[in-house]
Amino acid sequence: MKRTLGVCYYPEHWPESQWVEDAAQMAKLGLTWVRIGEFAWARMEPTPGSYDWGWLDRAIEALGAAGLKVVLGTPTATPPRWMLTKHPDMLAVDKDGKQRGFGSRRHYDFSHRPYRAECAKIVTALAERYGKNPHVAAWQTDNEYSCHNTTLSYSSAALHAFRDWLAQRYQSPDALNRAWGNVFWSMDYADFSEVALPNLTVTEANPAHVMAFRRFASDEVAAFNRLQTEIIRRHSAAPIAHNYMGQVTDFDHFATGADLDIASWDAYPLGFLSDRAPSTPENRLRFVRQGEPDYQAFHHDLYRAVGRGRWWIMEQQPGPVNWAPWNPDPLPGMARLWAWEAFAHGAEAVCYFRWRQAPFAQEQMHAGLLRPDSIAAPAHDEAAQVAVELAEMPDVSTARADAALVFDYASAWAWETQPQGRDFSYFHLAFETYRALRRLGLNIDIIPPDCADLSAYKLVLAPGVATLSQPFLTALAAYKGISLIGPRSNAKTVEFATPVPLPPNLPGMTATVARVESLPPALTVPLSNSGQFVHWREKIETTDEVVETTADGWPALICAGGIHYLAGWLDDIASARILTALCHKAGIEADPLPEGLRRRDTETHRFLFNYNAFDVEWDGKTIPAAGVSWQEIAPR
Ligand code: GAL
Repeated sequence: MKRTLGVCYYPEHWPESQWVEDAAQMAKLGLTWVRIGEFAWARMEPTPGSYDWGWLDRAIEALGAAGLKVVLGTPTATPPRWMLTKHPDMLAVDKDGKQRGFGSRRHYDFSHRPYRAECAKIVTALAERYGKNPHVAAWQTDNEYSCHNTTLSYSSAALHAFRDWLAQRYQSPDALNRAWGNVFWSMDYADFSEVALPNLTVTEANPAHVMAFRRFASDEVAAFNRLQTEIIRRHSAAPIAHNYMGQVTDFDHFATGADLDIASWDAYPLGFLSDRAPSTPENRLRFVRQGEPDYQAFHHDLYRAVGRGRWWIMEQQPGPVNWAPWNPDPLPGMARLWAWEAFAHGAEAVCYFRWRQAPFAQEQMHAGLLRPDSIAAPAHDEAAQVAVELAEMPDVSTARADAALVFDYASAWAWETQPQGRDFSYFHLAFETYRALRRLGLNIDIIPPDCADLSAYKLVLAPGVATLSQPFLTALAAYKGISLIGPRSNAKTVEFATPVPLPPNLPGMTATVARVESLPPALTVPLSNSGQFVHWREKIETTDEVVETTADGWPALICAGGIHYLAGWLDDIASARILTALCHKAGIEADPLPEGLRRRDTETHRFLFNYNAFDVEWDGKTIPAAGVSWQEIAPR
């Protein structure tokens, strides 16, 4: 697979006289892709029903003539102002019942059927016009579903669509009442039309009601996306992508991904470290100009799974961004390191965001490859270096990893709905597990929760998966390798009840989670060996083998055959120790890496990434600060 570079470009932001020169400069830089169009609805359809394609025809021609391939975005994330005059109730409503407003972007409600019809119209017009254009080589639907908290809406459109969804799922109000346990607090419904959205209740709503709403909202995103992919496919054979985000779990990306050809994501390592990535205060400072060393890789591996092998970076941070609490400048070298790390994890393309920094509007403080005065910014030359290196690199393929980590969006909703401890975050639990494995030098595949064949892996982990799917449980029963399930796995039914017999109900195991407790930050539970449980622990009754206990004598890790169950949330010390032992049991080499140094093998090469601001010696070589090194290895 040949790896390529690209850039995001907004021809509508610049005088037409500049397009040809911009295109020539992009091609000279060694770029292959240019993504355009995703926010340009008001230029495509300036007034309802009257289209202006002339400028877009010429822009695509200018870019294509320079040898670039266009990724054409559907513009549905930014409906023009006239759309609101036409459909004043198309705006989403927040949890407090306040309608969101016009003047930025993503001002629409996924459930608003007339807005969906408007989207179908513009996507049809776009696909009819450009579906056979030789320069349009890929599509992007919308832009960053869920960005700015836009998946959940408490509008009247959402309410009506939710009731329909419930009627289809449960068929009768009695079935819904039974499934949700509405006998509790006299919450029974006599008709689907009585069911409201789960906001504005006096105290917490029934968690089964909230979970149903979360599943519904996720289905709405998938349906909104599918409407577009079905139209595009009627007119074009080019692959279709969507650009997902970092640490966004509000909709099931696997479900949306099933209708797409390529998963892509928008990687802003410094913005994420400042804004959301799990880290310690020391590491926030240590990696402030580099990004959290495992955060990008986690998403690369996640989106490789979402894309069923095909994935891109659609937007790569090129310099300071504008939207995080603080926006430092990356260390020299990082714009190159981030790109190479993505390629080592199998990215087909890395596109920098954006070509030229805009001197106007919301993102004027966001760097591009060029400054607003068109002088090259530092990332321009780093991208040029990557382009040269790519040209010298033989085609590389990703290697299958030894270890697999299950990632399940519904579990994020489950533990947001009923955290039981304020700091119980599914994303953090999955990410910390991933990070601990990567610190041991492992390649990791992320797998979906309904994965039905685990046989390719030596080690499989499923922390915090609220409901283990039947295909996964069947695969686990047949699995010959080592697995680590828990904490808090298989703890709920699909309808969000506590299963009886009590969890974890794993094949061949006789364990019962008799009690759980959440732990405030200052309260930890030491293990009898080094390290401790933090955030969460479970008291297990079992006749299975107890591998180790807590200092107060409860089973901490148990096992039956290759299946292990973990009774708490491990701190870094305990997870390094326990995962190392499981790797040995599974026959995987576990080799602790120096802090900030990370490794990834492809089929033919071993890559080392130094996220530190200083050189690191490792394995007989020096990896420079913010640098990458690679060497050929025996084919895996
Ligand atoms: C992304 C978005 C882009 C741009 C960028 C700035 O979230 O897709 O349009 O806003 O962030 O970092």
